[in-house]
Amino acid sequence: MSTDTLSSVVDRYVERTPRSRAAHERARALLPGGVNRTIVHHEPHPVFLARADGAWVTDLDGNRYLDALGNYTAMILGHGNRAVRDAVERQQRDGSAVALPSPREVEVAELLRERLPSIEQVRFTVSGTEATMMAIRAARAYTGRPLAAKFEGGYHGMHDYVALSVTPDPAAAGSPERPATVAPAGVPPGARDSVLVLPFNNPEAVDALLAEHGAEVAAVIVEPVMGSAGVIAPQPGFLERLREAADRHGIVLIFDEVMTLRLAYGGAQERFAVRPDLTTLAKVIGGGYPVAAVGGRREIMSVFDPATGPAVLFSGTWHAGPVCLAASAAALRQLDRGTVAALNARGDDVRARIGELLKGTRDLQVTGVGSLLCLHANSRPLLDYRAAAQGDRARIAALQLALLNEGVMIAPRGMFCLSVPMTDADLDHFVAALGRALAAVGEIEA
Ligand SMILES: Cc1ncc(COP(=O)(O)O)c(C=O)c1O
Repeated sequence: MSTDTLSSVVDRYVERTPRSRAAHERARALLPGGVNRTIVHHEPHPVFLARADGAWVTDLDGNRYLDALGNYTAMILGHGNRAVRDAVERQQRDGSAVALPSPREVEVAELLRERLPSIEQVRFTVSGTEATMMAIRAARAYTGRPLAAKFEGGYHGMHDYVALSVTPDPAAAGSPERPATVAPAGVPPGARDSVLVLPFNNPEAVDALLAEHGAEVAAVIVEPVMGSAGVIAPQPGFLERLREAADRHGIVLIFDEVMTLRLAYGGAQERFAVRPDLTTLAKVIGGGYPVAAVGGRREIMSVFDPATGPAVLFSGTWHAGPVCLAASAAALRQLDRGTVAALNARGDDVRARIGELLKGTRDLQVTGVGSLLCLHANSRPLLDYRAAAQGDRARIAALQLALLNEGVMIAPRGMFCLSVPMTDADLDHFVAALGRALAAVGEIEA
């Protein structure tokens, strides 16, 4: 991409978004980088939200965008869902947060158990970060072992034990079969020494590493489809082999389904027919409100049971807040089998249409499963983090900006997803906008 091409895309963006630019200038004085979430940052500045409705978002300058990011895949029902709003308003009147159990937590626990048979018991948190933190702690308490294993490029939130090797420089991360455990700034050596890093989609290497360290490993945590690494599907048999290895070594297998629950009524564990010991959930289960959960086998979850002796402390001020759980119940009821299957079928259809469009480019490709998709500037087969990390991120970031100019919002790293309120016309808009954006950044002939 020439410098002139890029600057004409940036110039057009700046021209269209003066109010967002002014808001960003104000924000920069008060919030590091002018944003509250790292992933919201992009050059020259993000657009600021005015309002969101259904599948569409309007910025401060009145520009409208098809929201194909859906708050990083969480807003599967779109914005302002009627049944969720009604449920929240009703619950608001009966109390929003009281230090008492409420029937809401039993109701949502039943809804989750119904769709995920591996969940015998559940505990709610506010964020996916807390859910993965408590899942790993439960596994350590249950097995009495010190190590947690995660996959290179896997994202499970912000706490120390999962912040390792999320975006390591592949050149400085050891051999692909024995990845180094790379700690970002602020993560102490103690956390680094408690985590074993495994390569995704490489069952032989995983078997070898677990044969060596398995007796010390409490848990393996895995995104059944790697999300933040580039929406990378597991190779046939990979998750099954992981299940077998976990059984062989007495390791608790945790499926982090924060992003993948949307891939089937019963999540990726149903789609790929592999049953984990524990599951972590967040995003779509909240119906637009902060609800997350850890659940799974009763005997492991019993480490949290205060009635049977000294339990692992599990006690967040906002956990299982009834307003959020009212939203959750209203959302889960709408996400029935037919709705989830139809959304994923539409995702497969859009991926095929985009694949056709990208045939006209040098090396752009689209990955994903069902309603989760990701664009890459990369000609390699995308089976793991390392392959995806070698793509040209600058070209994807330019495409994201060009897509905003065309009225479509995706992640700066190329990820996007479908939501239930998207119409066929919305999806046509997406594909047509992508065609114009590809021409604007010089990836295809104008
Ligand atoms: C797979 C996965 N796990 C955990 C998390 C963390 O969830 P939260 O942002 O709610 O802390 C995320 C967030 O993107 C995620 O994608």
